[in-house]
Amino acid sequence: MTCSSFGKCGSCVLWQMPYSEQLKMKSERLKEMFSDFEIPQIEVIHGSDEHFRARAEFRVWHEGDKSFYAMRKRKEDGRGVIPIEECKIVDKAIYEIMNPLLREIEKNENLRFKLYEIDFLSNSKGELIVTLIYHKKVDESIAEDIKKLKEKFKNVDFIVRKKGRKYVFDKNYLIEELNVAGKTYKYKIIENTFSQPNRQMNQKMIEWALRNSSHLKGDLVELYCGNGNFTIPLSENFKKVIATEINKESIEAATFNAEINNRDNITFLAMSAAEFSQLKKENSPLLSSYDLKNVLIDPPRAGLDDKSREFVNSFENIIYISCNPETLHRDLKTLAKGRKIKAFAFFDQFPYTNHMECGVVLERDG
Ligand SMILES: C[S@@+](CC[C@H](N)C(=O)[O-])C[C@H]1O[C@@H](n2cnc3c(N)ncnc32)[C@H](O)[C@@H]1O
Repeated sequence: MTCSSFGKCGSCVLWQMPYSEQLKMKSERLKEMFSDFEIPQIEVIHGSDEHFRARAEFRVWHEGDKSFYAMRKRKEDGRGVIPIEECKIVDKAIYEIMNPLLREIEKNENLRFKLYEIDFLSNSKGELIVTLIYHKKVDESIAEDIKKLKEKFKNVDFIVRKKGRKYVFDKNYLIEELNVAGKTYKYKIIENTFSQPNRQMNQKMIEWALRNSSHLKGDLVELYCGNGNFTIPLSENFKKVIATEINKESIEAATFNAEINNRDNITFLAMSAAEFSQLKKENSPLLSSYDLKNVLIDPPRAGLDDKSREFVNSFENIIYISCNPETLHRDLKTLAKGRKIKAFAFFDQFPYTNHMECGVVLERDG
């Protein structure tokens, strides 16, 4: 991939390294980091190295009567942001609309004044949610201007935000379609809730989790389930699934997603991982009908808190999806005791950055 922002933008820090070398460098780094565990060969799973981000956020910079997208500078160039002409890592639908949208906004002072950030969310059909974020009082009078934008960009639903307020024009979600192991799954993904950033890699991650759970006996518990991204396909490998997540909107989407995919063996609960962990300690009747042998976790960068780690450690088999190898390493110090690491995957969700997403399968010895 080449990009006119390479060497200026602080996002693609590995811009000088050919993609195949990035994969090699990152998988070797992981091998070294996890050398104190007995891990099988790391499975390197990657997708396209351009137009892979299904969602993106850009600062907006105004100079005279021109507006630009801006990204933070590279660390070595100091603090602050730099204007960028393009971004090649974003989904084609986002890439194609970015500059035409800004040119339209430039023409309308009401839309342009104190516009601070533009966020994009896309789906596989090229439909978009665009969120305009302001540092000024915004009221519903902006609706007329948004209507004019909508006439130009028919595949977009617009949201306007300013501190503490949100105006949704049309709707605040997209229906995403994922192709996983020969099947199509539909997902409602809601603006400003978590959704996997890299669609192609997400499909491959779900396939990996499906493949590595097909032999497991018992039911499945899932923590940090988001909109049911893993839950829905994986529910086909288990008799019953109970899945939890702290964000209520995500749980509403997950419940909806189970319905539209005709999955009726999943119970979704809106609660924190720590609260859910407590239910087991209290022998809650909510859990009594489950054969609690398997757990899938996909926590935020901080990994597991103490209570949740203790809970996860009570299962025989663990599938751990992690976006932070450091907290994964810390958590494995507990979870790998008495378990064998059966599979270790590196999913390159974030080409041109140092970020690494991993998947680990742990099964109880003996
Ligand atoms: C990395 S995302 C994974 C979501 C989902 N598995 C997916 O693939 O889309 C982590 C999720 O954990 C949720 N979360 C954050 N802190 C949490 C907590 N303490 N307890 C439960 N869920 C939490 C977030 O809302 C987010 O949806």
